[in-house]
Amino acid sequence: MGSSMCLFIPILLPFFLLMSDFLNTCSSFSTQPLCSESESLALLQFKQSFKINVSDSHNPFAYPKVSSWNSGKNNDCCSWDGVLCDRGTGHVIGLDLSSSYLYGSINSSSSLFHLVHLQELNLAHNNFKDSHQVSFSVVPHILANLSSLMYLRLEGCGLYGEFPTEVFKLPNLRFLGVGDNQKLTGYLPEFNSSSPLRFLRLRNSSFSGFIPTSLGHLSNLIYLSLGYNNFGGQIPFSLANLTQLNGLDLSFNAFNPQTLSWVGFESFNHTPLVLPWASLLYLILDSNKLHGSLPVPPPSILFYSVKQNTLTGEISPLFCYLSSIDYLDLSHNNLSGMLPQCLSNLSTLLSLNLQKNNFHGTLPTTYREGCSLKFMDVSYNQLEGQVTRSLSNCKMLEILLLGNNRFIDIFPSWLGKLQMLRALSLRSNSFHGAIGKPKSNLEFPKLQIIDVSHNKFTGKLPSEYFQIWNFMKVSNFDNLTYMNAFTWARILEFSGILLFNYSMEMTNKGIETVYEKIQDFLIVVDLSNNRFEGEISEGIGNLKGLHLLNLSNNILTGRIPFSLGNLSELESLDLSKNQLSGEIPQQLLELTFLEVFNVSNNNLTGPIPQGQQFSTFENNSYLGNTRLCGSPLTKKCNIPETSTQPPLISKQGEDSKFPSKSDWVVIMMGCGSGLIIGFIIGHNLSIRELEQFAKKFGRRQYK
Ligand SMILES: *[C@@H]1O[C@H](CO)[C@@H](O)[C@H](O)[C@H]1NC(C)=O
Ligand SMILES: *[C@@H]1O[C@H](CO)[C@@H](O)[C@H](O)[C@H]1NC(C)=O
Ligand SMILES: *[C@@H]1O[C@H](CO)[C@@H](O)[C@H](O)[C@H]1NC(C)=O
Ligand SMILES: *[C@@H]1O[C@H](CO)[C@@H](O)[C@H](O)[C@H]1NC(C)=O
Ligand SMILES: *[C@@H]1O[C@H](CO)[C@@H](O)[C@H](O)[C@H]1NC(C)=O
Ligand SMILES: *[C@@H]1O[C@H](CO)[C@@H](O)[C@H](O)[C@H]1NC(C)=O
Ligand SMILES: *[C@@H]1O[C@H](CO)[C@@H](O)[C@H](O)[C@H]1NC(C)=O
Ligand SMILES: *[C@@H]1O[C@H](CO)[C@@H](O)[C@H](O)[C@H]1NC(C)=O
Repeated sequence: MGSSMCLFIPILLPFFLLMSDFLNTCSSFSTQPLCSESESLALLQFKQSFKINVSDSHNPFAYPKVSSWNSGKNNDCCSWDGVLCDRGTGHVIGLDLSSSYLYGSINSSSSLFHLVHLQELNLAHNNFKDSHQVSFSVVPHILANLSSLMYLRLEGCGLYGEFPTEVFKLPNLRFLGVGDNQKLTGYLPEFNSSSPLRFLRLRNSSFSGFIPTSLGHLSNLIYLSLGYNNFGGQIPFSLANLTQLNGLDLSFNAFNPQTLSWVGFESFNHTPLVLPWASLLYLILDSNKLHGSLPVPPPSILFYSVKQNTLTGEISPLFCYLSSIDYLDLSHNNLSGMLPQCLSNLSTLLSLNLQKNNFHGTLPTTYREGCSLKFMDVSYNQLEGQVTRSLSNCKMLEILLLGNNRFIDIFPSWLGKLQMLRALSLRSNSFHGAIGKPKSNLEFPKLQIIDVSHNKFTGKLPSEYFQIWNFMKVSNFDNLTYMNAFTWARILEFSGILLFNYSMEMTNKGIETVYEKIQDFLIVVDLSNNRFEGEISEGIGNLKGLHLLNLSNNILTGRIPFSLGNLSELESLDLSKNQLSGEIPQQLLELTFLEVFNVSNNNLTGPIPQGQQFSTFENNSYLGNTRLCGSPLTKKCNIPETSTQPPLISKQGEDSKFPSKSDWVVIMMGCGSGLIIGFIIGHNLSIRELEQFAKKFGRRQYK
């Protein structure tokens, strides 16, 4: 929680400064004259033009602000909820009806436009659609007649049609947020240096056209978010002139493939592009077909993401001077060279993602006491050598993904000391030797995902570890509480949030799956494709929370343990390509969520259990076991089907529908879990989605 707090504060600052600018020009509520009758009337008419549709908002803080408005005793509109008047003149200068369950449309005859003194208008997160699903009758041009407006927010209102370009040019406008209206189209106008615009957020709408060079005239701009739109052409050089910029998001647009270059800041082959904004905190250039070298942000940067481009070359040693950076995502590019040793000196770094590049050489080795890394993904590179032992100083580490590299090492049992570690992937490397035993039973207490598949491990399965992976022993998660998401929601709603998620790839039910979020309760053990030998101990039945268990492609012998029947959450069990013998235990009939079952290519004998989930498995679950019999195989069992176990009493009728698939709906947001860190600066995930996430949290839903 602490570290996330630190993330919030510096980023919020410019925003609050901006707000206080605005608020200083406004009055307090005390000692003001009654509002004028005409403005009061205009407000009441405005109220009447809407329905209140409570079911329409999922914001826990939403309430129908207009319900306190009335023409009776309390007819001083200056005291109404969401209404702000000027102390001197009594004019209505502020209207904040964000998240107020408003349902209806606004057209050019709306009495809203009689409030000509408005300086602040916030209608974000309502539903401006009429019964014909026509919203705002598109945004009326008359909005641009409110020439006093300084602050305008219309985010997440279901707006569509073309946004009136004149609004960008309102002479006093400082803050404009019309993002999260995915059907809202429009263009940026030519800007003029007299514009006081400081905050412009169009993220996640459908604006298109070019970014005009004249945007560089907005010398007051501190925040520019044009991400997730359809802007094309080149990113103009003139952005370099926005010297005050704190936040820049141009991600996911339709720009031409281009090399970044800003006046005097061209990226040459051997000199890295140093970005021109000295006070930049936050930069997102994801998925923009950028090529050339990796731009170097200024030392002020906190959040830097250029994922999914085609950047080439090395990470400049200048990255060593990023003394405040929290989040660095260079994944899915074509960067190469060795990782600078000093990367491990960045003591503020929480999240490092270098996945899918061409880095080689070893991991940086100087992680020190107090290292704050929570997430590290270097998978899909050509890294080699050992896993740097200094990572044991990163006590906060939750997720460590080293898969698909060329590491040569023994099992990093020393990671067991990291009390927060939740996911460890060593997949597809050259880890070797026996996994061995834990030194104490306090190791890996929170581990929920371990993937060591496709390595060269030998020796017995790590049954002693099966006894101590405590997190995996929990099967009943209904009682688990979730993070106090809504403590933050108020702030988050204020300017939106950016969630950053961690993803990892695993083989789930035979399919390479990218888990965009590592789900809170997904519990996985994948030891496949190694050279583990000996028996599977009954102790595996302790890991009651397991969803996926893959032991295929080893040299395991002996019987399938009865205790697997205790893994009541299991959805996928792969024991194929081993040397297991004996019968398939009837206890497996108790695995009512089991969706994938594979015991192919073993030496199993006797009857296949019948009924329950087993009626859904086909021949290819049993290939290459010539002595198995019974459905779905054509080979009948000669002897009457007497199993070694007493038959199970079916809790459900034979033909009742077993849930064949479960969805894991997750939430990992929140500082509490540390898995997703909310980031303020005008970013996205509407309060609606936030709420939906939370509602479903921890519930499994059956299709
Ligand atoms: C504007 O909407 C109101 C209902 O809110 C309707 O009565 C009026 O006819 C509309 N005016 C125009 C010009 O569309
Ligand atoms: C809005 O502004 C335009 C241009 O300034 C003006 O012609 C028009 O009359 C105004 N509309 C209203 C309703 O004030
Ligand atoms: C900039 O805009 C202001 C106000 O809209 C206008 O008075 C001024 O002439 C414009 N300047 C230029 C260079 O277009
Ligand atoms: C940046 O600003 C300088 C000085 O105001 C001006 O001379 C230059 O043309 C501007 N550059 C761009 C690309 O707009
Ligand atoms: C990535 O870089 C390598 C050299 O480091 C080059 O051979 C390869 O073509 C590049 N791939 C792409 C997609 O640019
Ligand atoms: C990184 O840390 C190591 C070990 O503390 C130190 O020797 C080295 O000088 C540091 N490098 C930089 C660039 O700060
Ligand atoms: C188990 O692992 C093997 C080898 O890694 C893989 O081929 C197979 O698809 C996995 N099984 C499941 C059910 O995911
Ligand atoms: C089980 O594994 C074998 C390989 O041993 C594979 O051919 C077969 O398709 C797998 N069956 C299922 C159901 O995944």
